[in-house]
Amino acid sequence: ENNATPYEFIGEEKLSMLVDAFYHRVGQHPDLAPIFPSDLTETARKQKQFLTQYLGGPALYTQEHGHPMLRARHLPFEITPTRARAWLSCMDEAMNEIELVGEIREFLYSRLVLTARHMVNTEELTK
Ligand code: HEM
Repeated sequence: ENNATPYEFIGEEKLSMLVDAFYHRVGQHPDLAPIFPSDLTETARKQKQFLTQYLGGPALYTQEHGHPMLRARHLPFEITPTRARAWLSCMDEAMNEIELVGEIREFLYSRLVLTARHMVNTEELTK
């Protein structure tokens, strides 16, 4: 099938592994852990739903939670450029761990770079 969606190309199982590997890192990252809940089960469940539809699969996130409005949903959290970089580095490492390679990886990662930048809502915090 040459018109598979990116979601079909990656597959549900690999997407699920990616999200689990990602939040495992988020939970240990000094710049990210403080703004996330200590139990990331529900966060990971929502992210699997979101990325499924982001990649052209069924609209699982919208069916349960309504329009994503991602930037608005992130406004309660101080998302600095440093945190956006940290988020992307956790994703890059998670992609390495599950061995997501090739054009599909470049495609997904480059879209996430743009989405992550769009989430930035706070100047760098001075420490
Ligand atoms: C939720 C941080 C980027 C998708 C969250 C939450 C935090 C957060 C703290 C709340 C977790 C919870 O309460 O369970 C960040 C930071 C980012 C970032 C620091 C750095 C730029 C992104 C990107 C995406 C994304 C790029 C999409 C690809 C989501 C989704 C949720 C979420 C789908 C769940 C929203 C809901 O509660 O329904 N994020 N995020 N985030 N984030 Fe991000």
